[in-house]
Amino acid sequence: MLDKKVVELLNTQVNKEFYSAYLYLDIANYYTEQGLDGFANWYNIQAQEERDHALLFIKYLQNNDEKVTLDAIAKPDKAFDTNMAPLQVGYEHEQYVTGLIHAIYDQAYSVKDFRTMQFLDWFVKEQGEEETNAKNLITKMELFGSDAKGLYMLDNELGARVYSAPSLVL
Ligand code: FEO
Repeated sequence: MLDKKVVELLNTQVNKEFYSAYLYLDIANYYTEQGLDGFANWYNIQAQEERDHALLFIKYLQNNDEKVTLDAIAKPDKAFDTNMAPLQVGYEHEQYVTGLIHAIYDQAYSVKDFRTMQFLDWFVKEQGEEETNAKNLITKMELFGSDAKGLYMLDNELGARVYSAPSLVL
């Protein structure tokens, strides 16, 4: 049996990860509308990864005989007016998610739930990578995005991203 509060936070995280997928799908749609298919590809893959994260939290709860409660997924409510805006939203969102993961870790730590801490280790590392990736996108956009040729090449680069399943297996 896991601690009640840990279970509650893990359940909430399932919803947060699905919301992340929704948000990134919304961003991908924005870029598709702008004709930036490479940026759209990058965020479509990011959305897939977020769905994978949600499924990992579900699996972890089930492996511990805990009930999974699926809640309504909030509507993405960000309006984008520049090609830079979604990148900033994405970066801020990853920082927010890192805070959520740390809060679950904090609760697990306080009740000496070493199993959940070990499960979350992967997510702590993953969040570090995702924040770096999101920040790098902003930097590249600042450097090359204002020039049509630069934007075209950056779009091509992001179009080359391919999906790979998460390295964490439960
Ligand atoms: Fe699943 Fe990017 O957090």
